[in-house]
Amino acid sequence: RSFLQTVGRVTLGAIVLSGGAFFYVTQRDRHPGQQAAHDASKKTVVVLGSGWAATSLLKKIDTDYYNVVVISPHNYFLFTPLLPSVSVGTLEPRSIIQPTRYITRHKKRRVEVYEGEAKSVDVENKTVTFADNSDIKGAVSATTIPYDYLVYAVGAENQTFGIPGVREHTCFLKELPDAEKLRTRLMDCVETAAFKGQEDAEIDRLMHIMVVGGGPTGVEFAGELHDFLVDDLQSWYPELANRLKISLIEALPNVLPVFSKQLIQYTESTFKANKIDILTRTMVREVKEKTVVVQDENKQLKEIPYGMLVWAAGNTSRQITRDLMAQLPDVQNQRRGLLVDEYLRLLGGDGVFALGDCTATSYAPTAQVASQQGAYIARALEQMAKKEQLEETLHSLRASSNSKPEEIEAVVKQINKVSKIKPFHYSHQGSLAYIGSEKAVADLPFFNGNLATGGMATFLFWRSAYISNLLSARNRFLVLNDWMKVKLFGRDVSRE
Ligand code: FAD
Ligand code: NAI
Repeated sequence: RSFLQTVGRVTLGAIVLSGGAFFYVTQRDRHPGQQAAHDASKKTVVVLGSGWAATSLLKKIDTDYYNVVVISPHNYFLFTPLLPSVSVGTLEPRSIIQPTRYITRHKKRRVEVYEGEAKSVDVENKTVTFADNSDIKGAVSATTIPYDYLVYAVGAENQTFGIPGVREHTCFLKELPDAEKLRTRLMDCVETAAFKGQEDAEIDRLMHIMVVGGGPTGVEFAGELHDFLVDDLQSWYPELANRLKISLIEALPNVLPVFSKQLIQYTESTFKANKIDILTRTMVREVKEKTVVVQDENKQLKEIPYGMLVWAAGNTSRQITRDLMAQLPDVQNQRRGLLVDEYLRLLGGDGVFALGDCTATSYAPTAQVASQQGAYIARALEQMAKKEQLEETLHSLRASSNSKPEEIEAVVKQINKVSKIKPFHYSHQGSLAYIGSEKAVADLPFFNGNLATGGMATFLFWRSAYISNLLSARNRFLVLNDWMKVKLFGRDVSRE
């Protein structure tokens, strides 16, 4: 009895403590304190973007040293790894975003946050022009501001290779509205297929979902779609569910080229078991309103009917990035993205740092790279500011006749220390991807080797890794709640 009592007490204590901790964290986050005003004597850092690179920088930057201004067309951070889950309703859209002000309001000094799209960067005069890109416009809807340092982290956009019909007829999966649109379109296809008197061939077309691109985005979407089919469509549309067909088209000989061979095989066999058709060595040539023209490995052209086509064929530079390259034609000559040195300084752009997917480096365009780069630049900026302050102190000491030589020597030593900014070094934490039916694949660096694992345990690891990487307690709570909701009630099949 006493043992049971002890267990009961400990459990109760743990519940009260975790409840208290949860309450403390949420209340602390809800009521950020007063912030210092901008200081005209400090330099201004302008940050373009509110994605992985920019947000990681904002979390780390010390506003004691700088006035910070953030400009982004979205006033939130999007946790992209869970975006495919939103497209089929496993997660709700707002569960994986967090307002940028959630971070900036907790800084010591006020950070100016503007919802707007940077239109141009003038590297010569060190200014940025940005405009209000929302539906409602005020008397002022565009302006130009100066910067001392610019953190350029605008990401990339969808690569279409100029293939006809892609922009007009396909759905992308890059930003939050893309996933919401996908979810609505998917249910539209299903409801239209269920329409009274619909002919067989038309039902087959509407229920054929094609995914172009066998990279992680395409694979994860196909996996999520399969779950939706098995868990929900079969219950709510039993007459249609077995007509749903998922095809994944990939130009290369296999899917997930960045993963190890063993995991590629595991993914392909899981897809086969889940009846997801993989068409490798197949290239999309044209997308029409209801059909797609593909070229197979024998150079034969085929026209395949589809209901919805998801385009996940990789990244290309945004227009503003291409304009920036055009200003520096001698040094910026890579179509893939901006060229930077080992300290992430833009080649040819004084005071500009470029980070994440907008750059062309030896690193893959991933969240991991972008967030490490953001944190690195925050540290580098701090060192640069400290160095300037110390140099001013040294100047005053040298100008004063009362200064002692040892005082001067100590400051010189400190200057030498903060002057040593190390080049950016990327530390790879591994690659993870969800492949459907509660299975995930993971390539993890392990004791100087590589651990390739796939299956249910990896799926649980995938979930816990993403839960712990979410930006806030609020996001964690909402995502856990969504997962539980889907387990209890299934996904919501209403079309918004
Ligand atoms: P982004 O995060 O794209 O941020 C760019 C920011 O710039 C956005 O806030 C955007 O609104 C803003 N912006 C755009 N234009 C302008 C402008 N003109 N002016 C100002 N701001 C602008 N990587 C992983 O490592 N692991 C994963 O599991 C993973 N899953 C993914 C799943 C999906 C579906 C997708 C699409 C990507 C995934 N990635 C993943 C890749 C990862 O999301 C990107 O590499 C990462 O977002 C790059 O960070 P970034 O800061 O460079 O760009
Ligand atoms: P990607 O560039 O990795 O893959 C795109 C694929 O589309 C390529 O394999 C390419 O061969 C194929 N393709 C291009 N044009 C085609 C055509 N016309 N016809 C048929 N196939 C065509 O792009 P993705 O998946 O969007 O990923 C972008 C970046 O984000 C990558 O760096 C990736 O690692 C990262 N990411 C990581 C995730 C994870 O780690 N779980 C999830 C999603 C993205």
